[in-house]
Amino acid sequence: MSKNIEKLKDKVAQAHLGGGEKRIAKQHDKKKLTARERVDYLLDEGSFEEIGILVTHRTTDFGMDKQQYYGDGVVTGYGTINGRLIYVFAQDFTVFGGALSETHAEKICKVMDHAMKVGAPIVGLNDSGGARIQEGVKSLGGYADIFYRNVQASGVIPQISAIMGPCAGGAVYSPAMTDFTLMVQDTSYMFVTGPNVVKTVTNEEVTSEELGGASTHSTKSGVTHITSPNDITCLEDIKTLMSYLPQNNKDTPENLPYELGDEIRENLDTLVPDNSNKPYDMHEVIKGIIDEDSFFEIHKNYADNIIVGFARLGGRSIGIVANQPMSLAGVLDVDSSKKAARFVRFCDCFNIPLLVLVDVPGFLPGTDQEWNGIILHGAKLLYALSEATVPRVTVITRKAYGGAYDVMNSKHIGADLNYAWPTAEIAVMGAKGASEIIFRKEIKEAEDPEVKLSEKEAEYAEKFANPFKAAQRGFIDEVIMPRDTRRKLLKAFAMLEKKQILRIDRKHGNIPL
Ligand code: COA
Repeated sequence: MSKNIEKLKDKVAQAHLGGGEKRIAKQHDKKKLTARERVDYLLDEGSFEEIGILVTHRTTDFGMDKQQYYGDGVVTGYGTINGRLIYVFAQDFTVFGGALSETHAEKICKVMDHAMKVGAPIVGLNDSGGARIQEGVKSLGGYADIFYRNVQASGVIPQISAIMGPCAGGAVYSPAMTDFTLMVQDTSYMFVTGPNVVKTVTNEEVTSEELGGASTHSTKSGVTHITSPNDITCLEDIKTLMSYLPQNNKDTPENLPYELGDEIRENLDTLVPDNSNKPYDMHEVIKGIIDEDSFFEIHKNYADNIIVGFARLGGRSIGIVANQPMSLAGVLDVDSSKKAARFVRFCDCFNIPLLVLVDVPGFLPGTDQEWNGIILHGAKLLYALSEATVPRVTVITRKAYGGAYDVMNSKHIGADLNYAWPTAEIAVMGAKGASEIIFRKEIKEAEDPEVKLSEKEAEYAEKFANPFKAAQRGFIDEVIMPRDTRRKLLKAFAMLEKKQILRIDRKHGNIPL
């Protein structure tokens, strides 16, 4: 007995050392924490319970039988974040570069299975050289076992991936199928094929950072949702993100206690400029509506003509989708439609009510957009909102033009409450464009076409550049003073809390992908 106690202590101590002190020092030199340090920082102090600490790989080829490390390059288990149960796996770069073996994959699958059975989120901390080269197809099978579980867990439990080192080849597809991907600036990268293969196949010279670093994926591809400057901030960001989410699709996010008394926000009354072509920052509108400092933006630097993120309203977690007039006048284009659609679907999976703030001049015209499928991508947002059954409230602050009016959570596609500010302009298009079309003949034949155009523009604007026609029809439930928006929304979301929608039974819809 005492011999085994000593043996156990020895094995656990070895497991805690991962690939050894030298490799740990190397990890620290790269400004990266080790897998265990990351898990410790992520979870509440003393809450981590490890599963599979003594697992070792089963490969004998290439002298691998002589290279055994307890835990086999991944630390797995469960613990709590702010008292809530979370499953976690953290790849240990000090053991075979965190490369994924059959047993390494089995450990990840085990915690994923647990998380699904229990209904708790799973967080993956990725730092890996990819498939363990000495194992061949066994490790590829391991990846597929994980991918399959990612899909089974999708929409059941929140899945979060942090990329805290390399993530290449097939490995990228697990994060891609999870709900949120975070990347650490300068120390992480993701790509399907690395710079050497790129050079061979396409003759392009590109660095790892340019090809798949955090800046690339947060601005160009949209693969990453959140970029953090270092490991610690990344782990903090995960904790913050988790605070807005429920445990699973049957649960609702926690309502934090909140003392009211700040419902009227007068500064909103003067936020929208008189000149409807002048931009203003939609972040200010968001700030003017939500609980102080509660906005957690997703995809901040990607497709910034639309803003998405989580916030709290009277302590309640909500998802916000908002056009941003400061960028491309807030148009909908391919990237912003995809960004918003994905966010809407996440909120709907996990019972997070949606607030949609609208100032949209329409869809971005041009060959680039058409050839890149704006029809299909715009349809994604239309589809995602139309199918969402969570409470949905809209506030039109200014423009709601054309098809984009329909798409941006209009009454017609199932929004529960639709408000408009007096500055709202709900029309088929802007007054100038509309006048040029419907009064073309009159303008052409006028003595001074310029003067005629501005006359007609004013006429059209007078008739349609307001929210009143839409309110008359009931497409807008109420035209509200901007200062009252927070008060109205607090009541609206409280009223909608128990909303239920029964759907016709079907396998699943066919969203335009
Ligand atoms: N399988 C097995 N071992 C691997 C591995 C893999 N896929 N990737 C890295 N390792 C090992 C290395 O042999 C090295 O072992 P050592 O500590 O005993 O010397 C250790 O992990 C660290 O790798 P190293 O190359 O020294 O680290 P680095 O930071 O300089 O480079 C990578 C990291 C990921 C860029 C580099 O290791 C690499 O290119 N790996 C192969 C990637 C790949 O092709 N994967 C398979 C296809 S998905």
